[in-house]
Amino acid sequence: MKPARGVLIVFEGIDGTGKSTQCNLLAKSLSEKKVPNIALAEPTRGTWGMKIRRLLSEGRGDISPEEELSWFVNDRKEDIEINIMPALKENKVVIMDRYYFSTAAYQGALGLDPDQIRLENEKFAPIPDRVLIFLNSAEACLERIESSRDQKSAFEKLDYLKNVQDIFKRFNGPNIRFIESVGSISDVHKKVQAEIDDLFDFN
Ligand code: TYD
Repeated sequence: MKPARGVLIVFEGIDGTGKSTQCNLLAKSLSEKKVPNIALAEPTRGTWGMKIRRLLSEGRGDISPEEELSWFVNDRKEDIEINIMPALKENKVVIMDRYYFSTAAYQGALGLDPDQIRLENEKFAPIPDRVLIFLNSAEACLERIESSRDQKSAFEKLDYLKNVQDIFKRFNGPNIRFIESVGSISDVHKKVQAEIDDLFDFN
């Protein structure tokens, strides 16, 4: 089954909410239903994305919030041109692990204005059909990161993640849904399905 037009579904939330697992599960379940789809992630593995990954592993150093913001925006512009727009034009379902709501929340938590960041991004970035914002306690998320990885990134600090999540919670709009990321992987997958089913006509 092919949707009549491309559909953009975005997964957002602080690190450790389990959204990457859920992105992959959704891609798998759409593929099983023969719905053409592609799973993408930001930061990407492109030139800007790799620069960002160095920042994550080595720390922010003396990079200003404005400069950091510009790296994420440049990475996104590349992603839109190279990956997102071509897939939408082919009427695929594009599943994104992070998009500009992450920029508004994470760079917003550095003191920049989240609403302004969202507005600026919406001038060039396709607006998602659905944004699923995953929520869980920042403490539980950090525990999850610590048990699953050797090293935390420079962004994964409790107070910072709490501020980031507070900004995520303030987003609103007809395309935004919040998902409590508690319960088993399959419980959360069911919540995801329930929040996107209306975008598809599986009959
Ligand atoms: P993450 O999704 O955790 O990537 P990976 O699983 O490959 O490590 O993203 C890395 C970090 O980048 C994460 O802490 C959130 C942060 N981030 C921003 O600060 N701004 C943004 O615009 C995006 C897309 C991510």
